[in-house]
Amino acid sequence: MLRVCFVCLGNICRSPTAEAVMRHLVREAGLADRVTLDSAGTGDWHLGEPPDRRAAAAARRRGLELDHRAQLFRGDDFARFDLVVAMDGSNLSNLEAMAPTPAARDKLRLLRSFEPGAAPGAEVPDPYYGGPGGFDEVLDICEAACRGLLDHLRGQLEA
Ligand code: 4NP
Repeated sequence: MLRVCFVCLGNICRSPTAEAVMRHLVREAGLADRVTLDSAGTGDWHLGEPPDRRAAAAARRRGLELDHRAQLFRGDDFARFDLVVAMDGSNLSNLEAMAPTPAARDKLRLLRSFEPGAAPGAEVPDPYYGGPGGFDEVLDICEAACRGLLDHLRGQLEA
């Protein structure tokens, strides 16, 4: 079993979107019993809330339901996952600062590091204070990067 957690700031826009995109791909690949997915945030403003309605609407237009309640990522949570996947460099820095051990730090990746052709350090931009097009951009990026992540997980499962 491989356990993956997607992490952003509020856990109401980007990371629940990445989780839903990845869940769809994992099911399509027949790997739902080999991969578990979750998402969380490093900020506590929206704990317990459902996803942002703009993110949910954009996802629904692509046939994806965002079924999640915002939760906080804590240092203890590293033990529950094999990969902790940050949406941007700020999320990554926050996670690096809370990693309790070097082994925990080794579980950290940027989501776009799995996207073929993406520049080193490429980020999923925060759509929260931007216009509605930002949510479609997040979905486009998540779809490309999660395909790369799926290939990575396939490799891990075969190793
Ligand atoms: P997310 O977006 O990190 O993609 O969930 C945000 C959601 C809320 C806030 C910032 C970003 N906020 O400042 O409340």
